[in-house]
Amino acid sequence: MSKKRTVRSHTCGQLNAAHLGQTITLCGWVAKRRDHGGLIFIDLRDRYGLTQIVFDPALAGGDLAHDLAGRIRSEYVIWCQGQVRQRPSGMTNSKMPTGDIEVVCTDLEILSESKTPPFPIEEDLDVAEPVRLKYRYLDLRRPILQKNLLMRHRMLSIVRNHLDQNQFIEVETPILYKSTPEGARDFIVPSRLNLGSFYALPQSPQTLKQLLMISGMDRYYQVARCFRDEDLRADRQPEFSQIDIEVSFLDEEAFFPILESMIAKLWRETLGQEITLPFPRMPYSEAMNRFGSDKPDVRFGLELVDLSGVFEKSEFQVFRSALTPSSQNRKGSVRGIVVPAQAERFSRKDLDDLQSHASSFGAKGLLWIKVQANGELQSPAAKFFSESEKKSLADTLHLKQGDLVLIVADTRNKVVFDSLGALRLQLGSKLGMIPKVGEGKPAFLWVVNFPLLEFDDKEGRYYACHHPFTSPRPEFFEDFVAGRNLDQIQASAYDMVLNGVEIGGGSLRIYRPDVQAAMFKILGLSPDEAKEKFGFFLEALQYGTPPHGGIAFGVDRLAALLCGVGPIRDVMAFPKTQKGHCLMSETPSHVSPEQLVELGISVTRKSEVE
Ligand code: AMO
Ligand code: AMP
Repeated sequence: MSKKRTVRSHTCGQLNAAHLGQTITLCGWVAKRRDHGGLIFIDLRDRYGLTQIVFDPALAGGDLAHDLAGRIRSEYVIWCQGQVRQRPSGMTNSKMPTGDIEVVCTDLEILSESKTPPFPIEEDLDVAEPVRLKYRYLDLRRPILQKNLLMRHRMLSIVRNHLDQNQFIEVETPILYKSTPEGARDFIVPSRLNLGSFYALPQSPQTLKQLLMISGMDRYYQVARCFRDEDLRADRQPEFSQIDIEVSFLDEEAFFPILESMIAKLWRETLGQEITLPFPRMPYSEAMNRFGSDKPDVRFGLELVDLSGVFEKSEFQVFRSALTPSSQNRKGSVRGIVVPAQAERFSRKDLDDLQSHASSFGAKGLLWIKVQANGELQSPAAKFFSESEKKSLADTLHLKQGDLVLIVADTRNKVVFDSLGALRLQLGSKLGMIPKVGEGKPAFLWVVNFPLLEFDDKEGRYYACHHPFTSPRPEFFEDFVAGRNLDQIQASAYDMVLNGVEIGGGSLRIYRPDVQAAMFKILGLSPDEAKEKFGFFLEALQYGTPPHGGIAFGVDRLAALLCGVGPIRDVMAFPKTQKGHCLMSETPSHVSPEQLVELGISVTRKSEVE
């Protein structure tokens, strides 16, 4: 046994009846200390578990250790040596792997003292998150967070193995780079050596991985850090990780099975769950029409129904104006959700709350209809409905007494889908129809056939729905190159969705330089802009580009789903707040005036958060 009083022979999760009688050493943090007059008990904690240590002054060699143990407080780091013995009968704890034994300490060293921690290091904590984030290193001592980080690690090692076995090689790409459009703002970094010039932190390694295909790498992956300056939510961080993948000479039929078997392996090897392959595929249009979302949670009903036909000739102004074609010949829709047999559960206040939720997604209102006991429809707009409309509505929705119908009408279908899609989730959760995170069978699916382009009414221009390197589906090629029917063109793009969370997204890429240049033009980039931003890329495409495609999975989102936790913060070692702050290090922070001068930067406007 080592004589050093800083190393251990075992970990705190390891000892059991097989070690009885052995003299061992342990190191760890004091989780709990109980002074029972004569005897002192300590629960010693490390990453692997807890072990009960007993200090008994009556034992030979135990008195010195006992005296020292009297000084020990929570979170002190100690080294101790002693003998493993059976816990007295009635004192065993079958819930702990070390619950049958205890260590009688005969030699003790305090390696580090600890200030009283700002919160107890316990499994179930009721401590405000900002405090936990300020002392994240203490929060991370909690077994639950350690378990999450361990799961994340295991997940990545399974992924790396799987990709390695399938001839993928991991290549690192630069962080100091150029903007790659993924739809968010860039974080930029000033260059001291080139005053007035800036690097952009990559929103993803998109162009770089495509360049690696041009280099002939054939199968690439990277656990890549990505940076996006966007509004944060529970499942979005400004800095996050992707399992970023790109392949050459494969279509979806050959590519999807590699990805599906990777996911199946992950679920099998971490949760012991078998997943049915292949995953179902759902066209984007179906996802929107049925669920009002391109990442549908298909584990419960409350599907959307198109009522435009029912209200085609409606006297109700709200519906009529939504269905009247606009000057660009665009027509909106009237759609609804039926909540079966629950009408009386919804008070006026509940309905108002639902309306305000819908309006946060752009809906101008939310019409409710309740089917009364006598079969009559009760609704603020009932007086506008003709008898034939009422009948057609009841037939279309198979209405029964006690049903509640919620309807949104708008000239923009996006508003109808977004608001009803959000409402569906809120209703599902209120009515307890959505399995809790980590419970039930996982519902995987691919959403395919996304639109290629989206027209922004405000800016009067097209945006790429995925990103500008995504290829149109082959049958739309001609229209695309001719600039025809741009709204109708579908992309060779696909998202992997699990329980209503987009866990990954990708596409087959444009690999012809003329098609890529046509895309930049459609997106409103002048030839000069295209050259400045993507000249290197357009140039590269001209040197023999293989047909290629790829995908990126959100590591944090996948890990959160595997761990059965909601916010991705809980699977990140050092996450940021909604405002992009690291509360522990107080980042972002000021830099010295000298640094700014050196970088040629002057700050003209102070941030409002100061
Ligand atoms: P996309 O932008 O769809 O595609 O991102 C891929 C996946 O990354 C995760 N993700 C995020 N996770 C946490 N915080 C964020 N702010 C965040 N943003 C995205 C999601 C998402 O599905 N270059 C393309 C991929 C490709 O085409 O190959 C890309 O980045 O889980
Ligand atoms: P109003 O005509 O504004 O008094 O609205 C009458 C009812 O129609 C209210 O219950 C509104 O919530 C509802 N309503 C208004 N606009 C819409 C809309 N765009 N879609 C669905 N319902 C609406």
